[in-house]
Amino acid sequence: MIKLAPSLLAADFARLGEELRIIESAGSNYAHLDVMDGHFVPNITIGPPVIKSLRKTSNLIFDVHLMIENPERYIEAFSSAGADIICFHIESTENPLSLIEKIRTLGKRPAAAINPDTPVERVLPFLSELSMVLVMSVNPGWGGQTFLPDALRKARVLRDYIDLNGFACEIEMDGGITLSNLPRVIEAGVDVVVAGTDIFKAEDIPARIREFLLVQQKLSEISKRCKEK
Ligand code: DX5
Ligand code: ZN
Repeated sequence: MIKLAPSLLAADFARLGEELRIIESAGSNYAHLDVMDGHFVPNITIGPPVIKSLRKTSNLIFDVHLMIENPERYIEAFSSAGADIICFHIESTENPLSLIEKIRTLGKRPAAAINPDTPVERVLPFLSELSMVLVMSVNPGWGGQTFLPDALRKARVLRDYIDLNGFACEIEMDGGITLSNLPRVIEAGVDVVVAGTDIFKAEDIPARIREFLLVQQKLSEISKRCKEK
């Protein structure tokens, strides 16, 4: 089964706690929290204090996506604010291994993200140590952008590499995912689907979440039937 990680970037920032409760009761698995510093990406969003406040309102797994420079300086702050998964960008650090170790030492799950222009090979040496690898399917910085299909090729490479080696590393995809391209995302072997705009701008958010989860269920039924034949 895929896991759904709605991105609160597209939520109403004046009602973040309430939006979080809505996605949690509708069956989401993770809450995807986008942290932008105005340097690694031009936009600025939230930091540890907001995450700390949200932590009190939710039991969801907090998937914190750090689009920041010098992530090593902020790992402890995000950890004590209540992050469960701490995802840094491979482009933002010279020493991914020490960052991974730091995150693990704090008892959190380390994840690494790759930008659309970054070759997938760059992250392969770290997959054995990572809990999750995030393939960006838009250039990071804003929600509501158009999906870049080369991300599907990268996900397939990662799927094969992870399965062949028996690594326990989930594949997450983030950016421009909607109900219409979701089947392609799932078929590429993605485990964790991030969606912001398509979920939070829907008229009925819980219904949209259920639709996302239903697509996965239908696809797995079809593939089961194919195998039986
Ligand atoms: C983009 C963020 C994404 C974004 C996804 O930089 O990392 O998580 O919120 O939003 P949509 O689904 O609208 O592309
Ligand atoms: Zn994100």
